[in-house]
Amino acid sequence: MATIYTETVQTVRHWTDRLFSFTATRNPGFRFISGQFTMIGIKINGKPLLRAYSMASAHHEENLEFFSIKVQDGPLTQHLQKLQPGDELLVGAKATGTLIQHNLLPGKTLYLLGTGTGLAPFASIIKDPDTYEIYDHVVLAHGCREIAELGYGEMVVNRVLEDEFLGEYAQGKLLYYPTVTREPFRNMGRLTNLFDSGKLESDLNLPALNKDSDRVMLCGSPDMLSDLQNMLETRGFVEGNHTHAGHFVIEKAFVEK
Ligand code: A2P
Repeated sequence: MATIYTETVQTVRHWTDRLFSFTATRNPGFRFISGQFTMIGIKINGKPLLRAYSMASAHHEENLEFFSIKVQDGPLTQHLQKLQPGDELLVGAKATGTLIQHNLLPGKTLYLLGTGTGLAPFASIIKDPDTYEIYDHVVLAHGCREIAELGYGEMVVNRVLEDEFLGEYAQGKLLYYPTVTREPFRNMGRLTNLFDSGKLESDLNLPALNKDSDRVMLCGSPDMLSDLQNMLETRGFVEGNHTHAGHFVIEKAFVEK
């Protein structure tokens, strides 16, 4: 059986009635690549209950961070949403996942496309200085229903840009594109529609999404993944994996909905 570390929750922040983020201690032996996920959870009636969660912290950070949905009758999140600083958190020692640079061919612009808690692996990737060594531009597009759901992503982006060390790498390269679908905002609409119309790229002064220069990582609901995968394949993008690098990659491990 894979090793499970027992960590301690350090901070918890509730963003909306559906979303929260939390930090925890990190075993120095726990290694991962920014963008990967592992199994995390808690003991319920003495029995461990774990689900796949992307690390929202980067591989070099001292603490772990996670961004989670709250489902009132969700087997894990109905309990996880009650976490308090000092509580125990179980963290699987074996990190894995497809949203890593190794699976992508060289390119100029990296598009990180997430909806809802699908932002989490990208929070890790935009905190990793290597990302800015590899790409000229890193677009973080986050689609949510409501403005309040963008709060966590906004905080991460601001921290990156204001960080004394990371900020120097990210300034001018990291392009943040938040969009909402269910209330008025400066950017509105689903990511799929924003690419179909070309509005997303033109708002950012970038050329239309194309496989020659652009690489894409996707993380979101099954419908979002399949719609964006279809859009990319129509444009000639080929999916990458551990054995063959491609133009785009998809994370198929989900936290409970
Ligand atoms: P919408 O409000 O039109 O459903 P959720 O919280 O349900 O995961 O949704 C997060 C965001 O993803 C919402 O803005 C939602 O838009 C959007 N979304 C849902 N399905 C898709 C899809 N198939 N392609 C792109 N975006 C989607």
